[in-house]
Amino acid sequence: MVQSFFVLSGEHQQLARDELVCISKSYDANTRHLVESRLVIIKSKITWKKIAKRATFVRVAGNLVGTFDDISKIELPVSRPDTFACRVVNLSSKKINTSLMERDVGAILKKRIDSKVSLSNPALTIYLVITDNNRYIGYADALEYQRPKKAIKYPTELDWKLGRCMVNLSQLKEGKTICDPFCGTGTILLEAESMGIRSIGIDFDSKMCEITSKNLAANGYKSRVVNSTYHHILKIKDKTDAIVTDVPYGIASRSSMPPKKIIEDLLSVVPKKMRTVLVYKKGMYIKEFDKAKKYEIFRHKSLTRVIVVK
Ligand SMILES: C[S@@+](CC[C@H](N)C(=O)[O-])C[C@H]1O[C@@H](n2cnc3c(N)ncnc32)[C@H](O)[C@@H]1O
Repeated sequence: MVQSFFVLSGEHQQLARDELVCISKSYDANTRHLVESRLVIIKSKITWKKIAKRATFVRVAGNLVGTFDDISKIELPVSRPDTFACRVVNLSSKKINTSLMERDVGAILKKRIDSKVSLSNPALTIYLVITDNNRYIGYADALEYQRPKKAIKYPTELDWKLGRCMVNLSQLKEGKTICDPFCGTGTILLEAESMGIRSIGIDFDSKMCEITSKNLAANGYKSRVVNSTYHHILKIKDKTDAIVTDVPYGIASRSSMPPKKIIEDLLSVVPKKMRTVLVYKKGMYIKEFDKAKKYEIFRHKSLTRVIVVK
């Protein structure tokens, strides 16, 4: 078991916490977690990097070493790095002079380990995360990660952050396959592929299929895009591990039926036990979602979205 810490960015906090836990659980079902304000501590077999590379709403993350009382007694938790920096993250309700604390801890460690301080490009960053209950110490080296490119955009496209987070809520690891039966420009497929999760896109509009194919090709992804209605799921259900999709919800996206009817019919096509993560416009009652986990995402006064995990 390793302990990792994640400081959330502050957007959609409940969603952000659950996303982290779902990512970890996709590799280790025995994941344990603890939340203190915007800090999430995860205990699992998975390294912080593996989780942080996938997570959408994380500001900083790293290995958690433990807690500390006195900054003068802080030891460097790993062997001497070439360069280092110290960062204090204050999540407590008290005012703390974080720059002063960073300077003080930096000076103490510098003397002890004889490494150079580099604020712009440190080989190792020491994090001191202060909450109302605890003072944590952790560390991280650089995290390299590339966002997928989107060659063609479209007004009805889903915010990539929601798409990525939804893929993660499906709790799949690399090599598994999601299907987005309303793929539009392919936002969800791009996010899945960028995390090593295979994807199959379906859209009944051939123009949207073409856009998705171009967006996938721009990143060298080879997912299949099928020009059909969502009923095509019936033909690929044995090759699919989860459905992750953004249901058509209004006049902007060309749809054949009202959204409630589409969702109910979609659910009748998807195998009962298959994990299904949908986003739709708030304002309709779907009986099958009574017991499902839901998150509301406010956009503006006439648009609140709901992410549901079934
Ligand atoms: C809300 S948009 C999806 C946007 C997409 N998530 C993106 O980021 O670009 C819904 C898509 O569903 C497609 N669609 C509507 N009704 C459909 C149906 N019955 N079967 C398959 N696709 C459908 C539309 O062509 C549209 O591209």
